[in-house]
Amino acid sequence: MTGIPLFDDVDLQAVKGVLDRGNLCSIGGGESKAFEEEFAAEFGSPYGLTIVNAMAGLHAGVVAAGAGAGDEVICDPMVVFGALAVMYNNAVPVFADVDLDTHLLDPASVEACVTERTKAILVTQLWGLMADMDALQAVADKYGLFIIEDCSHAIYASYDGKYAGTVGDVGVFSFQMSKQMALGDGGMTLMKDPDVRQTMVELTTFGTCPERLSWNYRMNEVVAAIGRVQLKRARGYVDACIRNARILNQACEGYEAILKPQGNPDPARYVNSYHIWACCFEGDKVGVSAEAFQKACGDAGLGFNYGYIGAPAYKQKTIRDQIGYGRDCPRGCPLALRHPDYTTDLCPNAEYLMPRIVLCGTKGEAAHYENMAEKLRGVLESFA
Ligand SMILES: Cc1ncc(COP(=O)(O)O)c(C=O)c1O
Repeated sequence: MTGIPLFDDVDLQAVKGVLDRGNLCSIGGGESKAFEEEFAAEFGSPYGLTIVNAMAGLHAGVVAAGAGAGDEVICDPMVVFGALAVMYNNAVPVFADVDLDTHLLDPASVEACVTERTKAILVTQLWGLMADMDALQAVADKYGLFIIEDCSHAIYASYDGKYAGTVGDVGVFSFQMSKQMALGDGGMTLMKDPDVRQTMVELTTFGTCPERLSWNYRMNEVVAAIGRVQLKRARGYVDACIRNARILNQACEGYEAILKPQGNPDPARYVNSYHIWACCFEGDKVGVSAEAFQKACGDAGLGFNYGYIGAPAYKQKTIRDQIGYGRDCPRGCPLALRHPDYTTDLCPNAEYLMPRIVLCGTKGEAAHYENMAEKLRGVLESFA
């Protein structure tokens, strides 16, 4: 496997086929329909639905969950995407904390956030690892909640043989260019229930006059045609990313007190697909400053991302200030039961993790990662 993604004559022929047929729209076209069927079959899900991008899928998922103005959806605080999708529908994002080791939504914290207004749990399968879906499903069952899985990082991630996107009520994938399976832009949703799928279709596709407030979030046929080709290669892309991330993991072995890779609760049960290799910098606890570590990495030519978005999602301006629909909504929505104070440290683990996060992409040749690993080992050894 050379390039990720690899585009070649097969993609070109697929595009040419669409152009030759002359219909580039999924309405009346066959590519989008075939793509969603093939994608669903690949992951063992009964229903797929193509979508213009993951944000559109998350938005529709929140609506399908029945979360309207003033309702609450429990999100994780490590990324903003879920909370933004909740705000798209004038609902209130409520942030549950994450586990320090896995960086993933903590089911106990989720349960503590449930109120009579909670409609859904929106869980990000972050960096490529799935959260404890059995425990989240138990919370959802207990309180009658919908689960939306954001699988933008997690194509081919699995636990107990179940793929990301097939466990919750709606699974949402992104094919934006940085993703392992990349189509420029694009997305896919998976559903277990035919009624939920029908709702998702109604919310995301209309021709002239919809039966209910809907959006046109369709994927076009050119993207779908490339998607069908790329789906056949996606497993290979992910395998390469897993191989590369494991090379970096090995470099940290014995140095976890300084740099601790995202924890896997049980490697026999959970497959991390490693869209991103993520670590927590712990060096300050053993006398290594973040500044010294970052400088040493920079000097060694290691281009990591430090701190991701700097602070949990609820402290990002758009969410903190609930900048939305004007007239003070969603922040002051009179239909809401409560308005969390997003300026406080709502999620202590996320507060701890976020500034310590060290991220690295995983696409590329093994040799590149072997080289990085050698440099990283040298940096870590110099502080040991
Ligand atoms: C976790 C997560 N969710 C959602 C998105 C949004 O994806 P899209 O660009 O397909 O809307 C991204 C994009 O980076 C993401 O990383």
